[in-house]
Amino acid sequence: MTAPLPLSVSPSHLAAPLRLPSGAVLRNRIAKASLSERLADTAGDPSDALLRLWDQWAPSGAGLLLTGNVMVERAHCAERGNVVVDAATRDERLALWATRARAGGSAVWMQINHAGRQAVRMADPSPVAPSPVPMNVGWGAFARPRALTDTEIHGIVAAFGVAAARARAAGFDGVQIHAAHGYLANQFLSPLTNLRDDAWGGDAPRRRRFLREVLVAVRAAVGTGFSVGLKLNSADFQRGGFDQGESLDVVRMVADEGVDLLEISGGTYEAPAMMQEAEASSPEAPTASSSTQKREAYFLDYAETVRALVPVPLMVTGGFRTAAGMEAALRSGAVDMVGLGRPFCVDPALPTALLADPGARVPRPRLDTGLRDLDAMIQGGWYLAQLQRMGDGAPPDPALWRSRAVWTYLAAGGRSR
Ligand SMILES: Cc1cc2nc3c(=O)[nH]c(=O)nc-3n(C[C@H](O)[C@H](O)[C@H](O)COP(=O)(O)O)c2cc1C
Repeated sequence: MTAPLPLSVSPSHLAAPLRLPSGAVLRNRIAKASLSERLADTAGDPSDALLRLWDQWAPSGAGLLLTGNVMVERAHCAERGNVVVDAATRDERLALWATRARAGGSAVWMQINHAGRQAVRMADPSPVAPSPVPMNVGWGAFARPRALTDTEIHGIVAAFGVAAARARAAGFDGVQIHAAHGYLANQFLSPLTNLRDDAWGGDAPRRRRFLREVLVAVRAAVGTGFSVGLKLNSADFQRGGFDQGESLDVVRMVADEGVDLLEISGGTYEAPAMMQEAEASSPEAPTASSSTQKREAYFLDYAETVRALVPVPLMVTGGFRTAAGMEAALRSGAVDMVGLGRPFCVDPALPTALLADPGARVPRPRLDTGLRDLDAMIQGGWYLAQLQRMGDGAPPDPALWRSRAVWTYLAAGGRSR
């Protein structure tokens, strides 16, 4: 029989600093996961609204703040409003972003990404991908991609390196390569979206090559003493797709190449497992049994498997909604950091509250109507609307109407995650 969790949990695990292989020390175990802000100006540089939003996150008290996904190729953004970091980026705007985001003492890492085929048509009418496999979702919101040439793939690998070098020069503390949620690196890994039979596909080792080359290029671009993280799917949750066995092979490869923090998530736009709602322990009942706590963060089982396999620092994101659940995950040794996404859209000061009071309430708005497509719009738009409010200098509005969320979603031209 498993022992029940104590009524109140000491915050010692959440508050403990974490030293990474790069030598960096994160001051506690709470991370803001990447949240696409979509607040770039028309040139793809950080706008004043983006800086105002980050003024609210900077003093959050988190150990680590990850930026929303920043695109490494201007022509291939995932959504309208993504920041782009390439040779044309205005360095002074990037440096201003880093300065404002780091003002509260948290480490700030830039998430770098290439959308591949998972780019809404309004952002990229001519998407590229490992193979010309169209998105099977979105009622025509995504254009059919064309297959990348070998030369283009080398160019994208190099672009990841360029973006990482510019992030370091601008003053960010690290970068995180986005290889999860169905974006380009994930597309290369998946047998459903990578149908190539050349140096970049045909079997699992060749499907992994793109990510390995990106890791090598990024490390070469930033040198030592700078943190490089990776966000990876435990699985894509699609029949015949990138599964847990292949994900573990990627983990072994990543460990060989060396990363400072591996963030585990799962799912794609076609099967959005990363956006499940925590079903069990509610904020009012943070003393649930350990099996319930496990369900609260839905990728924890996989993290335990990874932990037994490689000595890489681990972060799990998805579903954490109680301090007790976070403490239990850290105490079990399965993870080193807990990542929170949606709660940061509603309570930008959440880490300070959690560290001060283990009973602190983690926002968990009830948005579901039971209609799948409508709920996807409400979820996407509701959190995006909160980010837009913060960009206007206003606080989040937990009572924001669902109808407003749908409007925000449609006006922004599609999804966000
Ligand atoms: C509005 C919004 C934007 C997101 N943007 C990104 C992103 O740019 N990159 C990323 O890796 N994940 C993104 N995510 C996913 C979160 O990082 C996280 O994995 C997910 O929300 C699950 O964690 P949670 O249950 O704590 O919210 C986004 C999620 C939301 C709600």
